[in-house]
Amino acid sequence: STIPFTDESFDKEGYSHYMRKEIAEQPESIRRTLSGRLDTRFQTTHIGGLEMAARELLEIRRVKILGCGSAYIAGCVGAHLIEQLARVPAHAEPASEFRYRNPVIEQDTLYIAVSQSGETFDTLAAVQEVKRKGGRVLGIVNVVGSTIARECGRGIYLHSGPEIAVVSTKTFTSTAVAFALLAIHLGRIRDMSTAHGARLLKALEALPSQVEEILAMEPHIAKLAKELAPHESAYFVGRAAGYPVAMEGALKLKEISYIHAEAYPASELKHGPLALISPETPTVVIMPRDDLFPKNISTLEEIRARSGPIYAITHRGDPLPVAVNGVIEVPKSEPELDPLLLNIPLQLLAYHVALAKDRNIDQPRNLAKSVTVE
Ligand code: AGP
Repeated sequence: STIPFTDESFDKEGYSHYMRKEIAEQPESIRRTLSGRLDTRFQTTHIGGLEMAARELLEIRRVKILGCGSAYIAGCVGAHLIEQLARVPAHAEPASEFRYRNPVIEQDTLYIAVSQSGETFDTLAAVQEVKRKGGRVLGIVNVVGSTIARECGRGIYLHSGPEIAVVSTKTFTSTAVAFALLAIHLGRIRDMSTAHGARLLKALEALPSQVEEILAMEPHIAKLAKELAPHESAYFVGRAAGYPVAMEGALKLKEISYIHAEAYPASELKHGPLALISPETPTVVIMPRDDLFPKNISTLEEIRARSGPIYAITHRGDPLPVAVNGVIEVPKSEPELDPLLLNIPLQLLAYHVALAKDRNIDQPRNLAKSVTVE
């Protein structure tokens, strides 16, 4: 009922864990997802497997993204990208919820199923529900020829290469890249200017070397991980597109370290979770230097006033005006693409916390790489 873990078939190539190897592979796996898809003549993207002409794409009034776990969270990143770049309302929902709630399927909605393995039962059932009711669906999938890829019939392959660790890292990033490609494509047939398209294409091309820069911060991140490891509980907060980054950071930490980690929109802290902020509960704050940066400074003040340890994931710039326990500064991209880079240090953070706690990183307890049962 679950796909067996096959650690004989692929080599760790000197890395102690598949997860660590797959984190390191991201510059290359991003390049593969981008390969042949950037159109610098028209400053747009070319997605062969989409099989939808501009006329059909212009009929789309809404986008609904379906997936489970990290695939669902990558869909949340994708929804922000589509809404911001193409100005088409977009929303992600766990496929496992969608399939059971007798959803309304709309003719002018594009449904997108996201799955690394292409075999997740709940996601497959959601695709079948959309199709049964006459909706149009495409897949964003890593494994070529997998059941979901075949059921969708069209979509975007990630070409990330095999992912062996149970937790997803490089395929999460590649899924976000695939959504960026789609969002640029949808945007350029609508109102996105040539200049904006050109800026985004340049930013996509810069991602692999920017990821290299973040990977080089590993010793610093490992040091912060040692501080986090003894805690029993942690918050991850972010605003707007930073919130899915917080969700993925929390999921990764709980999956492999077994620390209770909860993601929350930073704006909602004062509506409940502040009651739990104390010296025992650290908060990881996702705070890109964008329009919402001043709001996130207020969040730091709220946490500091309750003596909560703070770890800020931000961009290079002036020192933060509030005392924090640790800062990780990632390179700046175009604002819409920032979430892709902000997520990378959180993978390393979870990895090093799990390492410090001597967990079974590649095969966490109770989890399977692909859940092919209900
Ligand atoms: C992520 O770290 C987990 N492996 C899990 O949440 C996973 O994303 C989920 O089960 C969906 O898998 P899929 O992408 O293969 O459909």
